[in-house]
Amino acid sequence: MATHQTNPPLEDELGDVLEKAMHRAGLNDESLALRSDVRAGRILDAIDYRSDLTTAELRRLAAVLGLNEVGLCALGTGHYPQPEIGALPFCVWPLHMPHGIGVANAYLVGECGSDRAVLFDTGTGVRALDGAWPDSIRRLDAVFLTHIEAEHTGGLSEVMARFDVHTAFVPSGAEIARGHPIGEGEEKIFGSLAITAYATPGHAAAHNCYLVRAPAATTGGMLLISGDLVFAGSAGGGYFSHTQLQINLRRVLNAVPPNTVIAPGHGPLTTVANELRYNPFVI
Ligand SMILES: [Fe+2]
Repeated sequence: MATHQTNPPLEDELGDVLEKAMHRAGLNDESLALRSDVRAGRILDAIDYRSDLTTAELRRLAAVLGLNEVGLCALGTGHYPQPEIGALPFCVWPLHMPHGIGVANAYLVGECGSDRAVLFDTGTGVRALDGAWPDSIRRLDAVFLTHIEAEHTGGLSEVMARFDVHTAFVPSGAEIARGHPIGEGEEKIFGSLAITAYATPGHAAAHNCYLVRAPAATTGGMLLISGDLVFAGSAGGGYFSHTQLQINLRRVLNAVPPNTVIAPGHGPLTTVANELRYNPFVI
């Protein structure tokens, strides 16, 4: 697999994960402190990235918040496991674009050695996309969007015009010009690549993940473009529905082979096996 940029750091630290989990559970620092027997000031310090929570405290917080305690403790000690990324039977170019204090990712996927690819999400804007674009890719077969947010669709109209792409595949219900809805289980074929949609509302009402396979390949795994459903060590915020995000997170991770590479909307690549084992939001 080709990657021409270094892997970025984890999107979320312990404080971000605690904050998302507190929001999901409807708890604030005081109510979480009461239930977990961890002082509110120490919880607030952790949310402010100044954590010195002990493993015992992290375990109690994980129990109250319904989090995977192994993963939460790993995050809390700065040792969240990041797996080796196995071989894929096609090439992937992660396009990392600065966004806030982290990065937003788009991905190009194509046959190795070809100048054509499929683009998943379009980043924070066309200048950022251009800055990350590999010289070797000169033609686009298609554009797929995971969800409609500024940091994932910023370069859309420019890239469609430049590469003469007339429609973008989008989650059902996404409202965007020239979007063509693709729903649960629908598959599109481009050369040797097969791309299957999973409808995964939760972070947004209209959100898709895409599984990329090379059906004729005899070796190598698959790639899951996960948008803001799951990150290495975290998950997207459940702005539309915490419950649906949680259901879809488990459903999709359990539906694909464990060696599937996850290409998230933010942060580094990871694998399904790693996130099933360690992700704080997977229990
Ligand atoms: Fe995002």
